[in-house]
Amino acid sequence: MSLLRRLPPVLRALLAQALAFGALVALVRLGLRFPPLVWVLLQAVLAVFLSRWLDLSPRWVFMQAALPFLVRALWSLPIPAWVYLLLFLGLALVFGGGLLTRVPLYHASEDAWEKLEGLLPGQPGARFVDLGCGFGGPVTHLARLRPDGVFVGVEASPFTWLVAWLRCLPYRNAHIRLGSLWRVDLSGFDVVYAFLSPVPMPALWAKARREMKPGSRLISHSFEVPNETPHRVIPVRGREGARLLVFEL
Ligand SMILES: C[S@@+](CC[C@H](N)C(=O)[O-])C[C@H]1O[C@@H](n2cnc3c(N)ncnc32)[C@H](O)[C@@H]1O
Repeated sequence: MSLLRRLPPVLRALLAQALAFGALVALVRLGLRFPPLVWVLLQAVLAVFLSRWLDLSPRWVFMQAALPFLVRALWSLPIPAWVYLLLFLGLALVFGGGLLTRVPLYHASEDAWEKLEGLLPGQPGARFVDLGCGFGGPVTHLARLRPDGVFVGVEASPFTWLVAWLRCLPYRNAHIRLGSLWRVDLSGFDVVYAFLSPVPMPALWAKARREMKPGSRLISHSFEVPNETPHRVIPVRGREGARLLVFEL
C-alpha cells in the first residue's frame, strides 16, 4: 500500500480512475442498469474515494471528481478520436519529461541568465550543465557570451529538447542532450544549474554530493535543498520570490 502511495500523483490518479472504471464494469456484468448520468456520477464518487485512499492532495481529488463529467461532456461533441490522440501526443512531447519527476515547464528570466553568467568560473574552459534545460534559454545565452566554455543542456521532453537543440545549432560550444538528468554524470562540470521543483531537490542534492568535484558549484533556481543553507542567495527579476541559491561543493 505504501508503495502505491509513493507513486507520482499522475499515476495514482490514473490508477484511481482505472479501478473505479473496473468496478463499474463489474457492476454491468452483474446485470445492473442505470441511466448514463448515474454511471458518470458513480465513476466520480468511486474515483474520489480511491484518490483519497491513495493520498492524493485536495487539488487532485477535485480534478478526479470533475474528470468523468468532462469526459461525458466531450463525448457528446462531434470531435474525431484522432484529435484526442494528437492532443495527448502533443502534451506528452512538451511536458512528458517532467511528469514523473513532477517538474513543470517554465523558464528562467533573462535577468537569471545574466546572473548565471557572473557565477561561471573566470578561467577559459569552464564546463556548465543545465539539468532540465527547457527550450535552452540559459545554455544559448551563456554559450554566446562565453565562447571559451562548454555548455550542456539535458532535457527529457522530446519536443522541448528539439527546440533547444535547434536553438543551440549556431554555437559550437553548446550541446543539448535528450534524456534524463538523473543519468548525467556531474563530475565533469564546474557549474551545475537546475530549475526544477521542490520534489526532486533532496535527490538532486544527494547526487551532487556524490558526483560533483570539490570546488564546483550547484545553483538551484528558486528551490531550496531541505536542511542545507546556500552559500549565496541572489535575487532575480521575473517572478515573485525568484532567486539563485548557490551551493559550493
Ligand atoms: C522549469 S523548466 C527549466 C527550464 C530551464 N532550465 C530554465 O531555467 O529556463 C524544467 C525542465 O526540466 C525538464 N525535466 C523535468 N524532469 C526532467 C528529467 N528527469 N530529466 C531531464 N529533464 C527534465 C522539464 O521537461 C522542463 O523542461
